[in-house]
Amino acid sequence: MKNPVVEVEKVSFAYDEELILEEVSLRLFPGDFCALIGPNGSGKSTLLKIMVGLLHPQKGRVKLFGRELSEFREWWRIGYVPQKVTALVDRVLPLTVFETVALGLIGKPPSLRARRKDLVLATLERVGLAGYAPRLLRELSGGQQQRVFLARALVGNPEVLFLDEPTTGVDFTAQERFYELLGKLNREGLTILIVTHDIAVVDRHVKQVACLNRRLVFHGEHEEFCQNPEICGFLPGDHHLVGHWH
Ligand SMILES: Nc1ncnc2c1ncn2[C@@H]1O[C@H](COP(=O)(O)OP(=O)(O)OP(=O)(O)O)[C@@H](O)[C@H]1O
Ligand SMILES: [Mg+2]
Repeated sequence: MKNPVVEVEKVSFAYDEELILEEVSLRLFPGDFCALIGPNGSGKSTLLKIMVGLLHPQKGRVKLFGRELSEFREWWRIGYVPQKVTALVDRVLPLTVFETVALGLIGKPPSLRARRKDLVLATLERVGLAGYAPRLLRELSGGQQQRVFLARALVGNPEVLFLDEPTTGVDFTAQERFYELLGKLNREGLTILIVTHDIAVVDRHVKQVACLNRRLVFHGEHEEFCQNPEICGFLPGDHHLVGHWH
């Protein structure tokens, strides 16, 4: 069996007294495309921040590519798109699309940074935004901005991508295109963990599903998830996926 890309082992976390994550264990393997779902406030964003080293759990262990997080240094192997990142667009400097994507090369190896221009332009092309480099980010639509932030995460050519609700506020067609792009990147070898509430869309694209509600309620192959009545409570009653459970 291949070595895991991410290993979360019995992680518990609290911002203050309240326990937000309790004994969560989750492993992602190369080539996984996993949706992390769960109600608002269930700890999804917190878990992602722990996985990318922004928060430190009080209990448990996290490894990236077989290394303890405290010893992990190869951050260029990781891509991360935080939740509501597009909300920052109007508040920060009037960055162009090119500049925003180039930010993703900060801290990457010099060999990558030397090829900055080519890498940024090639990545924009990859996400369907060829020709947008000189445009001001704030003049793009919400869906286009989401793809710019995806490009920013991809520009360093990571091996694993953590996405926190990257398609919020984007219309159905744009969501479909975004997921198709992720599917293509996954087929090219990228491991993906995506937090989402768009189960109807994600359903057609992901390979695994993980359900979080302070504890990890379920983690398994997508087909298994569709047949598991115990996790019905996770989904809105009128969701078409419910049909899979009959
Ligand atoms: N910086 C913080 N300080 C204190 N409490 C926090 C902080 N960030 C999140 N929380 C709390 O931790 C809990 C989990 O939050 P988290 O953002 O991980 O949930 P989530 O599953 O991502 O929710 P959503 O679907 O709404 O994005 C919530 O109760 C939230 O209020
Ligand atoms: Mg969240």
